[in-house]
Amino acid sequence: MSASQPDTDQVKVRAPGKVNLALRVGGLRSDGYHGLATVFQALSLFDDLSARPAAPGSYGVSIAGDQAHLVPADDTNLAVRAARLLASRHGGEGRYGVDLAIRKTIPVTGGMAGGSADAAAALVACAALWGLDINPDELRVLGAELGADVPFCLLGSTALGHGRGDDLVPVLSRGGYHWVLALPDIELSTPAVFRRFDELNPDADPTPEPVPPALLEGLASGDVRLVAEHLVNDLEPAALSLAPHLADLLDAGRSAGALASIVSGSGPTCAFLAANEDAAVGLSNDLNALGLCRTVRRASGPVPGARQLG
Ligand code: C5P
Repeated sequence: MSASQPDTDQVKVRAPGKVNLALRVGGLRSDGYHGLATVFQALSLFDDLSARPAAPGSYGVSIAGDQAHLVPADDTNLAVRAARLLASRHGGEGRYGVDLAIRKTIPVTGGMAGGSADAAAALVACAALWGLDINPDELRVLGAELGADVPFCLLGSTALGHGRGDDLVPVLSRGGYHWVLALPDIELSTPAVFRRFDELNPDADPTPEPVPPALLEGLASGDVRLVAEHLVNDLEPAALSLAPHLADLLDAGRSAGALASIVSGSGPTCAFLAANEDAAVGLSNDLNALGLCRTVRRASGPVPGARQLG
């Protein structure tokens, strides 16, 4: 193919990161997971993935982006595992092949489902590239085998999650929400944060508290202040106990005018909800100037789940 011709064989997919507006966590279950009751919102912080045909049985991946060095570019990569899983359920890994290229924007090990977004993108891209007859529900079932957040990265928008977080129901949500995300210069491993949760809550019932009804009311009516008042993350004390200086960052966001500050998922990303877009611009400038974190991003939600571009 000449350089001037478009690469018609290439499939491009964009997948969002997420923030948990509510993350209620129950005790450890016998399967090693925790019972969750959560409200996900997909945010306009995306990873882009392109998939090109490769020889049967060949599965490769390359990673770009400022945190690319933190992501394995081998068979342990969640996107490669997604491609292999999809192939194995549709005739065998030796029947298909793919070269994946991922451009990461979602923070790596940041509590925003970056790895799950890549797996979701790979499922959508490979299904299209290989011409598989597979519907969104089937893709979500496959996604759940790869990670608890993968089904939500496929679905997008706003959803209530139960079970491991992968049993999803869409939630009515009006309006747009403007977030500032502060990315600290540390990583927190999700299993380590859940383990610390267990240490802090040795008697937790496996059934979590329900998500706050007022949060769902706020989303349904598009009342950003009501939503802000009822953001909750049961993993926050565990994340703060592993990374105490995150408390300074959360306080700084509140002082700079955020309606609410919360650790995103298992952290360490801290998410600040702003009253509107102008407030988010001001807040991100103020947080940047404080120099308490590696970088500050703005994002809005909700946005759709993993989808093909072009
Ligand atoms: O499913 P995923 O691989 O993304 O989850 C990463 C880790 O987070 C799990 O290995 C587990 O330690 C923890 N986790 C959990 N309960 C959940 C979801 C995740 O304990 N519901």
